Amino acid sequence: RKPKFSTKPSQWEAEARRIMPERNFMYIHGSAGSESTYAANISAFERYRLRPWMLVQSTRRDLSVELFGHRYPSPLLVAPIGVQEIAHHEAEEATARACAAVGVPMILSTAATRSIEQVAQVNGDGDRWFQLYWPVPSAEEVTASLLARARASGYTVLVVTLDTFLLGWRPRDLDESYLPFAWGQGCQIAFSDPAFNAMYARLQAADTRSVGQKAAEIWEILKRPGSVAGAVGILANAGVMKRAQLYMKITASGAYREWSHLSSLRKYWDGPVVLKGIQTVEDAHRAIDYGVDGIVVSNHGGRQLDGAVASLDALAEIGADERVKSSGLTVLFDGGVRTGSDVLKAIALGAKAVLVGRPYVYGLAMGGEAGVKHVLSCLLADTDNSMANLGKRGLGEIGRGDLRVFERLAK
Ligand code: FNR
Repeated sequence: RKPKFSTKPSQWEAEARRIMPERNFMYIHGSAGSESTYAANISAFERYRLRPWMLVQSTRRDLSVELFGHRYPSPLLVAPIGVQEIAHHEAEEATARACAAVGVPMILSTAATRSIEQVAQVNGDGDRWFQLYWPVPSAEEVTASLLARARASGYTVLVVTLDTFLLGWRPRDLDESYLPFAWGQGCQIAFSDPAFNAMYARLQAADTRSVGQKAAEIWEILKRPGSVAGAVGILANAGVMKRAQLYMKITASGAYREWSHLSSLRKYWDGPVVLKGIQTVEDAHRAIDYGVDGIVVSNHGGRQLDGAVASLDALAEIGADERVKSSGLTVLFDGGVRTGSDVLKAIALGAKAVLVGRPYVYGLAMGGEAGVKHVLSCLLADTDNSMANLGKRGLGEIGRGDLRVFERLAK
């Protein structure tokens, strides 16, 4: 029997919550600190309102958009989201198949639970981009290897995430001591990488601690789980956990990168480079100065700096800037997009295209490939319908004049 899926975004979330173990759901749904930035991301859309135009011939509509010289069928992309296996056992493979089926580009996360090659294979003729959690300078060969693999597997655009050199303070996960990566989940891409594995082997070989020292360390760890099952689990997974630690160390151990390092990426990547996590007009200018091709205005769905401005407000500032507008920098956006109107509001504020995050993962939890397809199809149809009701035939016709901004919400 085909499951019956709702067209309501709030139902996708409710259904995912019902199906998934609470801890898994909260890893996906939760965000940083008091979750005020997450809430602001969502509520900001209420303050920007569309101004519809009547008696416009919009029976024929074109949702397509050109990004970096390539025409895409719609302004919708799937945001990079790691560890999708915690939502559904088919994980990123289900997402990749769904994306190819509905014509939405998939941005694969470095923290995926499937390899670069596995995802490419099932994504087939689909458009795919690769998101990089940029390793530390001393692991340069890992960066080179990941990008070479992505290039060879048909990923066309590189998205470098700048806001997660250190994981945000996420109380829900902290209280549950839940970090999928620590157990090796979301490390599939690193673990299948020859340069990463060579680095790990070198470090192992250089480990000069005595057997006695190592045994003492294991004893310290074993004292912590407080149960035989926990101890057995830790011992069985010790190798994986050590490799996972190395992965965390080289990708999420602090602010080890600066603007001047960006040029080094061009050695390993000859396609477009997009910086994800830009939130100020000053940083957008820096992106222009350093010659990148695009930015994603994003605060990581509120999961990094709690208290940061709503992503849509950041877009309003960046999208209105004269230098940004005349520079040719491609501005993309994510954070809180749940409906077709949300997509159009972001376009009106200067985004060329938008990334959708949590909703498609809720779709994945609901029904694997079919669930992701359902969510993306709803968003596409809603965007098309809303464009017609706004009185527009194409994205190029949508601009600032189609919005009215309210300082506060009407009671
Ligand atoms: C993310 N995001 C993210 N971003 C990234 O660059 N690499 C990643 O691996 C992840 N992983 C990830 C996991 C989960 C569970 C979530 C919810 C988010 C951030 C993501 O790409 C995007 O910026 C936000 O999800 C957008 O906000 P919405 O649409 O979820 O509100």
